[in-house]
Amino acid sequence: MADSEEGRTVYPRYFGRASGAYLWDVDGTRYIDYQLGYGPVVLGHADARVNAAAIRELESGSCFAPLWSPRQVELTEMLNSVIPGGELTYLLKTGSDANSAAVRLARIHTGRTKVVRWGYNGWHDWAVGLPAGVPSSVRDETLTFEHDPASLRAVFERYPDEIACVLTMPFEFEVIPPERLKQLRSIAHEYGALFVLDEMRSGFRMSLGGAQEYFGVQADIVALSKAMANGHPISAVVGRADVLGGFSRTRISSTFFAGPAEMAAALTTISILRDTDAIARIWSLGEKLQNGLRDLVAKYDVAAEVVGYPPIPFLRFAVPDEKALQLRRAFFVETTRRGILLHPEHQWFISASHRDEDIEFTLDVCRQSFESLADLR
Ligand SMILES: Cc1ncc(COP(=O)(O)O)c(C=O)c1O
Repeated sequence: MADSEEGRTVYPRYFGRASGAYLWDVDGTRYIDYQLGYGPVVLGHADARVNAAAIRELESGSCFAPLWSPRQVELTEMLNSVIPGGELTYLLKTGSDANSAAVRLARIHTGRTKVVRWGYNGWHDWAVGLPAGVPSSVRDETLTFEHDPASLRAVFERYPDEIACVLTMPFEFEVIPPERLKQLRSIAHEYGALFVLDEMRSGFRMSLGGAQEYFGVQADIVALSKAMANGHPISAVVGRADVLGGFSRTRISSTFFAGPAEMAAALTTISILRDTDAIARIWSLGEKLQNGLRDLVAKYDVAAEVVGYPPIPFLRFAVPDEKALQLRRAFFVETTRRGILLHPEHQWFISASHRDEDIEFTLDVCRQSFESLADLR
């Protein structure tokens, strides 16, 4: 957000406290948070139950790699039970770790080198969207597609025997046709490649079993992180035993992969998501926000569209010209000034701590903001 072109001078950059659906900047101003750390905060900031579980581990010593804590067994068993297709699980720290491990495993399993990917998949050499600092030999091994069957097939037709896996976010801003992921998976399999889902944003938010469960599709490997531990740093690869068995033929390890505090945080977060109506509430709050925004966009005749699934919504402004760009900029400046932290360029997130009143307040702020921008509409 801080580096965005949008309203550089009004966005608060330093925050002193976060609790539930709210953030307070260092000057003490409160914001309703729809960024939620880019997605991890699914229950609400500083959830006392999750933090207590992590603190218990910290108090009994939490750094003993290469040895493991029983939390590792408990968490891998839990992930195998809640994630569709979960036969084996390996725990890591970040989303980039998990996707990179998935790519390594796919290469081991297929004996091929190329990857076809879509969306933001992390910062490692094979995934980064910018060429600086990445050897062309590495870049040549990563291909991209347009997240539709025709475009994926065209890539496979070009390199029929060279692609180890298709690694993709299930969706980003747009709602996808319900059969889309099944189609992509079947093209990958037709050409002998693995299908890997990057569920960093969708996992534990679309449903307990993520986009796989929501769309009724099963990947060969799924990479998870973010909402898995309500903000504590942990990630996982979950999937087919024969594919994850490749771990024994390589070295994917890091000093901090064995941290039990994050595992305990994940165990508690996933249990709460499994045993309460948290995800259903996130959906209904998201629907309320999207419906209210749609009404406002129509009422004020704003050239913008409410897009996405309710737990991960977004307001996409059409920016055909400089005036439209100014309107978009001004809208996010006005909403921030009024205490709502939306992101101009990244999907938003809803947590189970947001309340109906927060959504109503947010919609009222959006209404005031559109009204105040009459000159630009
Ligand atoms: C869809 C997706 N994949 C991968 C990543 C990378 O995860 P991390 O930042 O934990 O390395 C992110 C993080 O923003 C993400 O949203």
